[in-house]
Amino acid sequence: MSTQAKIRRNTVPQIAARKGGEPIVSLTSYHAHTAAIVDKYADFILVGDSLGMVMHGMESTVGVPLDLMIMHGKAVVRGTQKALIVVDMPFGTYEESPAVAFRNAAKIMKETGCGAVKLEGGKRMAETIHFLVERGIPVMAHIGLTPQSSHVMGGFKTQGRDEDSWAAHEEDAKAVSEAGAFAIVLEGMVEPLAARITKQIDIPTIGIGASAECDGQILVLEDMLGLNEWTPKFVKVYGDLGPAIERAVEQYAEEVKDRSFPGEDQVYR
Ligand code: KIV
Repeated sequence: MSTQAKIRRNTVPQIAARKGGEPIVSLTSYHAHTAAIVDKYADFILVGDSLGMVMHGMESTVGVPLDLMIMHGKAVVRGTQKALIVVDMPFGTYEESPAVAFRNAAKIMKETGCGAVKLEGGKRMAETIHFLVERGIPVMAHIGLTPQSSHVMGGFKTQGRDEDSWAAHEEDAKAVSEAGAFAIVLEGMVEPLAARITKQIDIPTIGIGASAECDGQILVLEDMLGLNEWTPKFVKVYGDLGPAIERAVEQYAEEVKDRSFPGEDQVYR
């Protein structure tokens, strides 16, 4: 039996069954060693295409290539044992047609060993979600603020401030749920709208900047660790790693310069 075959991860039906129950804990992670830490506490881990901005210094997620998602997806799967791993489909790999989406989603699943993919879009993606699910690919949907469409939306803007826009978001949620998505990320959405959607659909809602009314929460790990210079207003920063890393690097640089590094105990003789 292979090592991976002995690993028992949370499954898609287990996550779906948490609707209205114990809140679902999730975080993003992009590499093996942070994923191993997150794995102890998260029900699922998202290898988000936010890695383009967080790890690779891109201005948006639009430029993230499929191969990059696969490389980080593999690392996260290798580093974890318990959480369901979900990998984002990057911009341009699924919108054209259900067949293109299937080809790329299957590539992600085969090459990374992840348990599900996530894609952005509501009503317009329902046909594709149905096509993928029917063919064995579990899909997490993502509506509200959808960063891959930031050029159309005119930036990263909170959704649902105008009550007249609620119906469209509610229709999006209903469409992806009926198409077979097992969960749905609600990003950057006012609380009353997130609460309404959570009540209206049968699959768990996972909020990011969408209030505690959702069935679960997700944050970008580097944001909540205080590693990014800028974090969205809604993010509670639980760690202070940016300054801690800087202090360590500064001390190392000083020790190298004044020749107090390496200490006696660190020298091979
Ligand atoms: O790419 C990402 O990290 C995401 C989360 C913000 C949900 O999609």
